[in-house]
Amino acid sequence: MNERVFRHIKERQPVGEEKRLLDRAARLEVVRTCLLSSIEAAYYLGWRDVVNPEGKPKTVLYSHMGPDIVTPLLATDATEIIGVDPTVWNDDEIEGVNNLSWRDHQMPQSFIELRRNKGFYAAPDNRQRALMVCNELVRLGAAPEDVCAARMNEDGVEIVFSYGGKKRRIVYYEESWDFFQKDRDIPFDIFYQKASMGSNALDDPNGDTGRHYILSHLRSEGYVMQSSGRVPMLYDNVVERHAWARSFVRTAGASGLEAVRAPLACNRLIQRMRARDGFDASVWSSVLYGTYLKVAQKKSA
Ligand SMILES: C[S@@+](CC[C@H](N)C(=O)[O-])C[C@H]1O[C@@H](n2cnc3c(N)ncnc32)[C@H](O)[C@@H]1O
Repeated sequence: MNERVFRHIKERQPVGEEKRLLDRAARLEVVRTCLLSSIEAAYYLGWRDVVNPEGKPKTVLYSHMGPDIVTPLLATDATEIIGVDPTVWNDDEIEGVNNLSWRDHQMPQSFIELRRNKGFYAAPDNRQRALMVCNELVRLGAAPEDVCAARMNEDGVEIVFSYGGKKRRIVYYEESWDFFQKDRDIPFDIFYQKASMGSNALDDPNGDTGRHYILSHLRSEGYVMQSSGRVPMLYDNVVERHAWARSFVRTAGASGLEAVRAPLACNRLIQRMRARDGFDASVWSSVLYGTYLKVAQKKSA
């Protein structure tokens, strides 16, 4: 797309479903507190209307979760998130998240901007992760007295809070591939993975363990939602798009999953993200990596 096309997209007035999503997004606390742009938030709401339109209780397995609490909430309305990420929590961090007592710490501006405009966090170190988790919860509108963080057992950390009138629970497993190799039986409704730094739990280096676990524990009619895992800027547009498409087709094709077509409004919102001032529009991967989701559904046998 050239400059003229981008200008046209930027100046195009949103109508129909795209407008409805943007209006809904503008009323969200996370947009009013500038954690996410209204375009990103509207995009996730568009997918939520596909994967959980009735707001039923859902368990989401989020691989490579980092501190990202908001996007799976917007995209799925999850009541439980099982986070898989090898970053280890120490006691100070857990205590800092408890009652949000770390919320006055300063977050680097570059992190805030990346999150708002590209939808993901740079890989954080430990202290920053606790800070970002507090930041997410504060800007979601969680009340400090409702936020409870504790070490669950040797496996991981549990955070409980309320959002949108519902109790939510996150369990962080401080693991990567090992999560899928242990003898666990945790079923879930949605597999979610984004900005995963070049790796992919569905295509893991230890063979098919991750893929096998994910596809066998994903409930029937459940969804896989996945952004490109390729690190932005290392690949040009065409290589990046093709590699991602191939990887997704391999996943969806071989395993009883069926690709779900993105709502038109979501595609229009992606165009709007790319056309935005300051976005490096020539680099597709910066949208693919941070936000753009490919979705497939597990069909009953
Ligand atoms: C760029 S951050 C993205 C975080 C989050 N998904 C987002 O969209 O904001 C990538 C995260 O992947 C985690 N990670 C790296 N290698 C991993 C692996 N093998 N398994 C699970 N998580 C991993 C890092 O610790 C980091 O939190």
